[in-house]
Amino acid sequence: MASESPPTTNRREKVETFDQRKLFSRFDEADARLLVELRPVIERNADRIVDEFYSHLLDTGELRPFLADPATVKRLKLAQKRYLLSLTQGTYDESYGDSRLRIGQVHERIGLDPQWYLGSYGLHIDLLLPTVHQHFHDDPQKAIRAGAALSKLLILDMQLVLDAYYQTRRRKELKRSEQLAAVGELAASIAHEVRNPLAGMKGALEVLRKELAVKPSNLEIVDELLAQIARLENLVKDLLTYARPSAISARSFDLHEMLDRLLKLYKDEADAAQITVHRIYGPETGRIEADPQQMEQVFFNLIHNAIQAMEHGGTLTVTTQASREGIVISFRDTGKGVPGGDIDRIFQPFFTTKHRGSGLGLPIVKRIIEAHGGLIEVHSKLGEGTAATMTLPKRPAGGN
Ligand code: HEM
Repeated sequence: MASESPPTTNRREKVETFDQRKLFSRFDEADARLLVELRPVIERNADRIVDEFYSHLLDTGELRPFLADPATVKRLKLAQKRYLLSLTQGTYDESYGDSRLRIGQVHERIGLDPQWYLGSYGLHIDLLLPTVHQHFHDDPQKAIRAGAALSKLLILDMQLVLDAYYQTRRRKELKRSEQLAAVGELAASIAHEVRNPLAGMKGALEVLRKELAVKPSNLEIVDELLAQIARLENLVKDLLTYARPSAISARSFDLHEMLDRLLKLYKDEADAAQITVHRIYGPETGRIEADPQQMEQVFFNLIHNAIQAMEHGGTLTVTTQASREGIVISFRDTGKGVPGGDIDRIFQPFFTTKHRGSGLGLPIVKRIIEAHGGLIEVHSKLGEGTAATMTLPKRPAGGN
């Protein structure tokens, strides 16, 4: 069993919050006393309830993988029995709260979605209440009050495990973004150092190309060198854009004019690959307020990805429409699509499904959209295509 310490929060704040929660749900000393009275009942019925609890979990296909090992189930049954008995311990103080936070951490660590363990508190209510009612059958009022006390405590427990779950997740996300920021900063410093020598090499090669009476075969080599330098320059540019994003400088511009201009740049490439472009522009989406340079980069990256995904032809549909949340812009291709397992990783830096991608195109897109206070989602089906849909607020969150 796990021996992690509960997520560190200010001790006073934690106690106050737990007390406040008890107060709010009207969980009081009378409830605590009723729960203590239930101890012998729970002791008598715990094994049966625990057995029913786990046989229900084992009947649920999504949960079976967590319970595949009989030794784990045995250990869990003991932990669950201890848990049931602890509901009747009578003191519901900070250390009680800590034990619940720990349970939340364990479930977060094993990757169990909260819907399941929160749902199984309902299962406990279903299993425990009839037993409680039966025990107090000669005093129906007491039966109701004891049932209510137990339900209130279970709901307090649910709040605590959910708190722990989100605290742990936030901590992990923070750690991950700190690590990414450190790696990004390192990459950006290297990119910065590489930029000038690259420009020097490119300049020198261009002079050589013009001034030397080179043989055609040598010319090909020089051109290949220049092409490789251009790739490196793009990578350096992407790295610097990703790691050191510039502040948003928002102004109003014509969205459709920008999209048309960028699509025109890709016309030859699209024609050559037999790609048809459909534009479905909403009447109210003409002018938008955003950073035009950054948005150009976003659209450019998304059009580029769509075209690259349709090597053997297809259709790119660009749609704009106004919604309550803002302006929705989508790029839908009928290309090869992204495998299911990869879709969650496409916004991660350096993850790419292409041979030649820097792995920074979509992370840059996401970063720019989020800096504007918008959001982007990508849906894809292998062999059918990909749709990237962004929603931009009417005015960017970080704009001037
Ligand atoms: C009322 C809801 C639940 C309660 C009160 C509960 C309670 C517990 C407790 C007390 C532990 C031990 C924590 C520790 O090591 O300190 C635990 C661990 C665990 N629980 Fe739950 N649990 C609940 C729901 C579920 C559900 C729905 C599943 C799904 C299969 C599940 C799977 C597990 C697993 C796999 C572990 C880790 C076992 C190990 O040590 O390897 N739990 N749970």
